[in-house]
Amino acid sequence: MKIIPGPASKELGEKIAELLNVQTVPVFSKAFPDGESYIRFNAESLQNEDVVIVQTTSPPQDQRLIQLMLMADNALDMKANDITAVVPYFAYSRQDKRFLTGEAFSIKTILKLLEHCGVNRIITVNTHNPAVIKNFNIPVEDLSAVPLLAEYFKTKVLAKNPVSVSMGKKALSLVVEADRILRGGYDYISTKRDVTTGNVTLEEKKLPVKNRNVVIFDDIISSGGTMAKAVELVKKQGAEKVYAACVHPLLMGDSKKRILENGAEEIIGTDSVPNPIGKVSIAALISKALATKGA
Ligand code: R5P
Repeated sequence: MKIIPGPASKELGEKIAELLNVQTVPVFSKAFPDGESYIRFNAESLQNEDVVIVQTTSPPQDQRLIQLMLMADNALDMKANDITAVVPYFAYSRQDKRFLTGEAFSIKTILKLLEHCGVNRIITVNTHNPAVIKNFNIPVEDLSAVPLLAEYFKTKVLAKNPVSVSMGKKALSLVVEADRILRGGYDYISTKRDVTTGNVTLEEKKLPVKNRNVVIFDDIISSGGTMAKAVELVKKQGAEKVYAACVHPLLMGDSKKRILENGAEEIIGTDSVPNPIGKVSIAALISKALATKGA
């Protein structure tokens, strides 16, 4: 096996290779003045190699997806035997159906393109809707980083009186998982998304947060709007300390500031995307999945 650490996940890819004790194929990349992407592997051939391309697709997601496709097709041309794409954050996974007539079913298009570029298997982490992403031709393994986040809170921050809260009923599985470690009980914040504007409103719902240390779990923090409103809501209901936890901290614009200003003690994420708050590493989780490949 050889690991190809893509330009978006150089550090994570190298960590995974180190944990697996396998060689990497260094990648040179650049953007031309007009914005087009260029990729070159520092290798003569990949004949008979099982290669693993590690490339997250956080913003600028279109560029990172193109780089991923260039790397996969290049590995195919260089005669790789098997191509696994490790895509910790899978862009476009929120457009997992046609919410409105005439809309593109974006995640389907991306998966089709990757398949055509020779990707045989995808490993991702807490993708937005695992049931949908697993419905296409390429086998997708969706790992969960939630236990790692929960361990962080257990050992580093919250020893006492914790409660785990998810953003929306659909994300309840995240806090069920977290509660196996934090053991303080769980609930969900009821949310409603306007399919035209994308705006999320939080419904009034009494939560078991009074005088408790609350960890709010979400898969993604993008604009931070959803998490900032959630922090405000649980604070209003008498929570003691509130922590914002997410697997993929995209943290666009002033999202961090908005969440902290609304009363969060800390925002914790993983290193699924390059970011300043990714204190929890998913490298071991991914290495383990790669090591048990085909087992
Ligand atoms: C939505 O379904 C996701 O789980 C997140 O809650 C959402 O993507 C967060 O977006 P933002 O940070 O822009 O509110």
